[in-house]
Amino acid sequence: MTTKGKITVIGLGSMGITLAKLLLSAGYTVTAWNRTAGKAQELVKAGVVLAESAAAAIAASPVTVICVYDHKATAAILQTPEAEAVLEGRILLQLTTISPAEARNSLAWATVNGAGYVNGAIQAAPSQMGRPDTPVLVSGNKQVLQSVWHILEVFGGGIRDLGDNIAAAPTVDLATLSYIYGSSIGFFHGARVMEAEGLPVNEFGDIVAGITPTFGEFLKYEGDKIHANDYTIGESPLRISVEATARIEQAAIDAGINSEFPALAASLLKRAEAAGYGSEEVAAVIKVLRAG
Ligand SMILES: NC(=O)c1ccc[n+]([C@@H]2O[C@H](COP(=O)([O-])OP(=O)(O)OC[C@H]3O[C@@H](n4cnc5c(N)ncnc54)[C@H](OP(=O)(O)O)[C@@H]3O)[C@@H](O)[C@H]2O)c1
Repeated sequence: MTTKGKITVIGLGSMGITLAKLLLSAGYTVTAWNRTAGKAQELVKAGVVLAESAAAAIAASPVTVICVYDHKATAAILQTPEAEAVLEGRILLQLTTISPAEARNSLAWATVNGAGYVNGAIQAAPSQMGRPDTPVLVSGNKQVLQSVWHILEVFGGGIRDLGDNIAAAPTVDLATLSYIYGSSIGFFHGARVMEAEGLPVNEFGDIVAGITPTFGEFLKYEGDKIHANDYTIGESPLRISVEATARIEQAAIDAGINSEFPALAASLLKRAEAAGYGSEEVAAVIKVLRAG
């Protein structure tokens, strides 16, 4: 049987198993390694070769995809004399979620050991991988990136090349997570507001899903304002958000429910107003955040 080429996958957690399966289905010859070998059983039945060690796994293919828990796990697996001895001329595609500083350190370490290194960040759950719109961020040397592009395409069609700054993918991933956690906590507070009033929370989820595309457009506009450093009012004056967040906070206090989230939002916006940005676009709150 002809294959598309040899690929190694290190890490067989929920995500790593999914990546290995996708590569196998796409016609690659897949070698895998995982700290707990038992997790490879199903994959081995499907045709994946289980290597005896991480070094043997790396040596089996020109490209190794790494997807383990964190940077500490990556270092424990890769930064050993055995693994370092087989790195020369190979490419590491890092898909573990790591920090920008860890990405810079990893590139330096890989370069010293003669390996190409690119850093990706997966922004989807395992069940969402391999779709035409699955978002995968990636950064690193253009040439190295080109050589692993065909692999990234197996993982998702929504690949975003963020350029040759190796820290770009983890940085954008951090920024995205900040957005997600901020809006999630806001959502959970909203769910509590609904619950306290005896309203059905599943309906709230539906409503939020409905406004998400237009809210996304709004945030894109605010991002453009920040990029241009131009806060003339175009869509939403900051003072409106001062009122809105104060109202959410007061309503929570009145209802006797937790008010920590609206208190934080209200406090940031109040500070922005006190600094004189009330009659600017709401994105001007970034000036408060810039102050540290
Ligand atoms: N799952 C998701 O929804 C999702 C979405 C986006 C991004 N990601 C990222 O993908 C990466 C993997 O996530 P996952 O969901 O697959 O996690 P997971 O199911 O918890 O699997 C963790 C993997 O890391 C290995 N590992 C942990 N500590 C280790 C150590 N000290 N030495 C060697 N191996 C170690 C585990 O090996 P054992 O099997 O031996 O424990 C396992 O293969 C994470 O960085 C995560 O942020 C995941």
